[in-house]
Amino acid sequence: MKGLILSGGKGTRLYPITYTKAKQLVPVANKPVLFRVIEAIHEAGIDDIGIVVGDTANEIKEAVGTGRRWGIKISYIHQEQPLGLAHAVKVSQEYLGDDKFVMFLGDNVIEGGISQLIRQFEGSEYNCQIVLTPVDNPSSYGVAEIDPDARRIIRLVEKPRDPPSNLAVVGIYMFDQHVWEAVHTITPSWRGELEITDAIQYLVDKGYNVHPYVHRGWWIDTGEPGEMLEANDLVLDELEPRIEGYVDRDSQVNGKVTIEKGAEIINSRIRGPAIIGEDSRIVNAY
Ligand code: TTP
Repeated sequence: MKGLILSGGKGTRLYPITYTKAKQLVPVANKPVLFRVIEAIHEAGIDDIGIVVGDTANEIKEAVGTGRRWGIKISYIHQEQPLGLAHAVKVSQEYLGDDKFVMFLGDNVIEGGISQLIRQFEGSEYNCQIVLTPVDNPSSYGVAEIDPDARRIIRLVEKPRDPPSNLAVVGIYMFDQHVWEAVHTITPSWRGELEITDAIQYLVDKGYNVHPYVHRGWWIDTGEPGEMLEANDLVLDELEPRIEGYVDRDSQVNGKVTIEKGAEIINSRIRGPAIIGEDSRIVNAY
């Protein structure tokens, strides 16, 4: 299987942060969201990953490089304009070929890993698997209607006024080669984009097996500033505290705190959840 990460787009909802920085490179608990996505895919046993890039291509390539640091191969795929998630898939056809693949939005963070759901798809007969999670306000998301025994998707609806369920579509999708037929057939939506929900609905309508995987942990689309802060909180809380730097005798460290190597804490008090990055110096501070 291959991995496909979408890191094009404009990130208008994160202005002004994204005037100067690709949103996928904004750090959550000291690590760019995109690195977290790469690591989650790699952890699931995939070592061939394509990243779709747009206007911020240079910045992303500079940060990520060839993938050598993770021991994987990274290829870059250029998308001239952000014409939709299904368009991003379409421009990746040559890279993906007829392999099964997992597509992950480069600005999403999910609790735990994705190994289990990837394995489930890899060994299955499913043509597509999408990840769903229960939410309190389904009208703000793409929502799935599933059959009573939760084995098949019946319909996907974008931001429904009258939601058929509380299961929102999470930004992780798995496809086999039938996706090509879908992305070549659908046409742009009212907002001018090739929508991934339309591609999936096409597969459902043609009788392909589109399987729902219900994720029970948290999941955050870091598209907006509040969500970025929430992701930071949740990831910090997941971290196993570890102190690899130096804490002097006059300092106190309480709660879930990670102090990375080379960091120095001098006459200071740190209350978690917090992470102190490599080689930082915290002096006379609270
Ligand atoms: P979105 O958050 O839907 O879009 P965006 O990045 O343009 O943000 P905004 O709405 O704030 O302007 O995109 C989800 C992810 O997919 C994100 O990592 C960007 C990526 N993407 C592409 O790579 N190509 C595309 O054509 C689109 C629409 C998004």
